This record gives sequence, structure tokens and C-alpha cells, in this order.
Amino acid sequence: MILSIESSCDDSSIAITEIDSKKVVFHKKISQEAKHSIYGGVVPELASRLHAIDLPIILEEVKPYFKHLKAVSVTNQPGLGVTLLEGISMAKALAMLLNIPLIGVHHLKGHIYSLFIEKEIIEPILVLLISGGHTQIIEVRGRDKMKILATSIDDSVGESFDKCAKMMGLGYPGGPIIEKLAREGNEDRFDLPVPLKHSPLIAFSLSGLKNAVRLKIEGLGEAITYQDRCDISASFQKAIKLHLLQKSKKVFASCDIEDFAIVGGASANLYIRDAYKGICKEFNKNIHFAPLEYCSDNAVMIGRYAIEAYYNKDFIEPNRLDINPTKRVSNGDYLL
Ligand code: KG4
Ligand code: ZN
Repeated sequence: MILSIESSCDDSSIAITEIDSKKVVFHKKISQEAKHSIYGGVVPELASRLHAIDLPIILEEVKPYFKHLKAVSVTNQPGLGVTLLEGISMAKALAMLLNIPLIGVHHLKGHIYSLFIEKEIIEPILVLLISGGHTQIIEVRGRDKMKILATSIDDSVGESFDKCAKMMGLGYPGGPIIEKLAREGNEDRFDLPVPLKHSPLIAFSLSGLKNAVRLKIEGLGEAITYQDRCDISASFQKAIKLHLLQKSKKVFASCDIEDFAIVGGASANLYIRDAYKGICKEFNKNIHFAPLEYCSDNAVMIGRYAIEAYYNKDFIEPNRLDINPTKRVSNGDYLL
């Protein structure tokens, strides 16, 4: 079995996965959402301190599995430096204590492998990753052949949902709240710009849309009603959808990969999922999603990736494993 740890942001999570059967035998996640909610976003130092409390609580529960462990895996990049450190400190200690190999996992590769939990790998596959930290289209041809075809030049999809919710005085994370309100809203009431609509760039940008939403909210002032919030949510979600679809179609037009998937926290959004089902039909692509419970951050996806790394003996000495916080990437870069 492999033990996996995830602490790149505000979820403390540990999983145990059987290597040969790929079966998940244990998974627990302690989410810090409620604790960050009053700040309208994640506070890194608070997140780090909460990981230091919550990860050892979960670890207590997996002690009976220690004798079966063949490796320990942990997210080491990208993410918040202070929270990644909590996970890798625990992973290094376990690898040394139990004298088993250590595997460092790239968080975004983990999100991609959320598609293959308890399943075989599908490759090649084109993946749209929409999370709180990233918006990317990635061409996946192998574990070390994941090429970024499009990325965000400013905010990510999840982050823009969070900011939109914050501007309307709603809680955190904003994605599920906005999606819920949007179901009762009129998506055509507010005329919001579709980002980069007339630009040939194959890229994502959401900060202009966020500002347009801010101006609409300011225009409504103190008198903003529940229905106004629903209509803003629906109009905002529609603009995001149109932006994602427009740029994805450009990639689809020049890519012959038949399988397509959406992963990451915001891939739980059913309105966005439905829109993609439509264009995949149009472009003759098979569409795949991760199970809803594994869209947001979790250690199970890290464990699934680690199984492949284990077979390839992709190990690292504990004193060599370091964090690699979030950095800027460009089209054509590989996830390394
Ligand atoms: O993948 P994730 O858990 O963390 C990162 O790796 O960043 O993604 C979290 C993000 C948050 O910004 C949250 O608002 C967004 O995913 N999210 C959603 C939905 N559920 C979560 N965004 C849109 N619609 C949703 N239903
Ligand atoms: Zn994530």
C-alpha cells in the first residue's frame, strides 16, 4: 500500500491506496473552509497551523496500515509554501521512520490522475484543469509528457468564483455558492464581457470580468436583493462558460486527441460540465470527469499518481525533497 498526503492549500488529507488493485482503502480530509470563510479566502499562515493540528489527527487513524506500506507520497508543488511544508515534513519523517521510499507529487498531475482513481489510465488525453490556483489546458501523453497548451494570464476560474462571492458578501469557497444561486437567476440580465473574445490569444483571463462584476454590484448599492445576487451569479457563470468554451474550441480545432476531461475544484460545476458535454459531441471527443468527491483537493489523487511513480521507482531521498511553491508558466511549458 501507499500512504499519500495532501496539504498544498486548505485541505488536510491522507489516503491509503493498494498498489496492485488501485483500491482506495482509507481516505480522510479535514477541510478548513469554515475557518477561512470569515476572511473571504485562504490565509496561508492560518492554513499552515491548522495542517499542523489536523494531519497528525488523521495519521493516528492510519497507524494500523503502517506495516503494509511500501512507500509514502506527498504533494510538494505547486501550492502555498507554508502549507506544503507541513505535508512534506510529515512524509519525510514517515519515510525515515518506516524505512520506505518517498515520492514527491506535482499537485496538478495529481488532479489529472483524479480521473484514474481505481481505474486504468487513459492516454493521450486533453485536460482542462480549473481549480482555485490554476486554469490550464494540458495535453497529457505520459507522466512526464504533460504540456500546457493554454494558461491564465491573471486570476484562475476558482479564484474568480471566490472573489465574485466575496464581493456580494457571500461565503468561501464561492464556487458552490455561486453555482447554487445561479440556478435561480437570469443569466441574460447583466451584460458582462466575455474575456479575450476578440483576441487570437489561446489563453484565459478573468480579472477584467471580475472588475465588470464589481461595477454591477456597486451600481446596485445597499439595495442589492437576493434576486440581484442570483442574476449576477448566473450572468457571471455564463460569461465564464463562454470564455472557457471559446478558447477550448480553438485548442480542439488543432488537436486530434479523442479523449477530453475536466478536473480540479471548479470541475464540480454542473453548468460548466453540461456545456462541455455539448462541445465534445460537436468535436467528436469522449468526455471524462473525476467523481465529484475527488474534484477538490484530496490525497487519493496523489496516491493514484504515486502508484505509477512507484512502479517506475521514481523515488527521492528525504533530504532532497523540497517544496516548490506556485510559479508562473507559459504555453508550451511542461509540468515537471
Ligand atoms: O482544486 P481545488 O480544491 O484547489 C486548488 O487546487 O486550487 O479548487 C478549489 C476551487 C475554489 O476556488 C472553489 O471556489 C472552486 O474550486 N469550486 C467551484 C465549485 N466547487 C469548488 N467553482 C465553481 N463551481 C463549483 N461548483
Ligand atoms: Zn488543487
